[in-house]
Amino acid sequence: MLDEEVIQQLLDVARNSLQSSYSPYSSFPVGAALLDSSGKIWGGCNVENASYGATVCAERTAILKSVSEGSQEFRAILVMTPTERPTPPCALCLQVMAEFCKPEMPVYLANETEVKSSFQYSELLAYPFGPAYLLEEK
Ligand code: THU
Repeated sequence: MLDEEVIQQLLDVARNSLQSSYSPYSSFPVGAALLDSSGKIWGGCNVENASYGATVCAERTAILKSVSEGSQEFRAILVMTPTERPTPPCALCLQVMAEFCKPEMPVYLANETEVKSSFQYSELLAYPFGPAYLLEEK
């Protein structure tokens, strides 16, 4: 479990990213905040596309921003939606997380004001296909 202060920072970053959501097709804005091993927090929002399959989720936006800037180790991710029921990462995002996240990494699900639930990554994707299958077991 992270310090309450860090959780508040994650909420602040996700809330900010949520404002940038480009979601004209679904009207379902999502914000994410990704804490890396250096303590830096990367924000992300969903970016939709008229060719629907080209849409990128908020979690992947945050992960791709971080990795493309050289940061690949993550301590936590928070997903924010302005909804009653908190939103978990989709299966595609969970698969991308399999590349970089440890099984015990916390995943926080929040609305605009507070964390509503938290999981370990492994609870959301119990048996991921990850880099070990290709890199360590040849
Ligand atoms: N979406 C996310 O950004 N993250 C999730 O965890 C679930 C879904 C986005 C994709 C799309 O822009 C919209 O929500 C509706 O599916």
